Amino acid sequence: MEGAFLLWLFCIISLLCCTTHQAGLTVSPSRSQFFQRDSVSLSCEENNSSAGWTVRRNTTKGTRAQCGTDWGEAPGSTCNISFILTDDIGEYWCESREGAASSSIQLTVSGKIRLWS
Ligand SMILES: *[C@@H]1O[C@H](CO)[C@@H](O)[C@H](O)[C@H]1NC(C)=O
Ligand SMILES: *[C@@H]1O[C@H](CO)[C@@H](O)[C@H](O)[C@H]1NC(C)=O
Ligand SMILES: *[C@@H]1O[C@H](CO)[C@@H](O)[C@H](O)[C@H]1NC(C)=O
Ligand SMILES: *[C@@H]1O[C@H](CO)[C@@H](O)[C@H](O)[C@H]1NC(C)=O
Repeated sequence: MEGAFLLWLFCIISLLCCTTHQAGLTVSPSRSQFFQRDSVSLSCEENNSSAGWTVRRNTTKGTRAQCGTDWGEAPGSTCNISFILTDDIGEYWCESREGAASSSIQLTVSGKIRLWS
């Protein structure tokens, strides 16, 4: 009985611990399939900015490329791509200074250009 209680307590604690320390990558507009020249905004859902979350990506042009230095514009915690191109196809994720990473999101870009919006 006590063992079961401790196990339950352990589960609750790890759940609380891991949900509060996990940053998710939010894509705006909320989809993973884009047309060339669409504007995309990426942000790390982490309210503790001192942990220093940045958006990184793996594309055919490079791995662990950081937003703001290697690609995109990062004036704050969000990362903007004003004109997404097929070169931007890849895996995107959030990573903290300590190296903690969120799960990644695959973004794809259609070769077509959106003629209406
Ligand atoms: C910060 O994140 C935690 C866990 O996700 C949440 O419970 C809390 O309300 C958030 N605080 C603010 C100010 O957003
Ligand atoms: C924010 O993150 C930093 C670095 O990970 C940590 O030292 C600090 O305790 C955190 N603050 C809060 C309020 O969670
Ligand atoms: C990014 O690329 C590196 C090096 O190939 C690999 O180790 C890592 O798992 C990749 N990350 C994602 C999210 O695909
Ligand atoms: C980034 O994109 C968001 C959403 O489109 C927009 O509100 C914001 O002004 C943009 N920031 C910059 C610096 O371009």
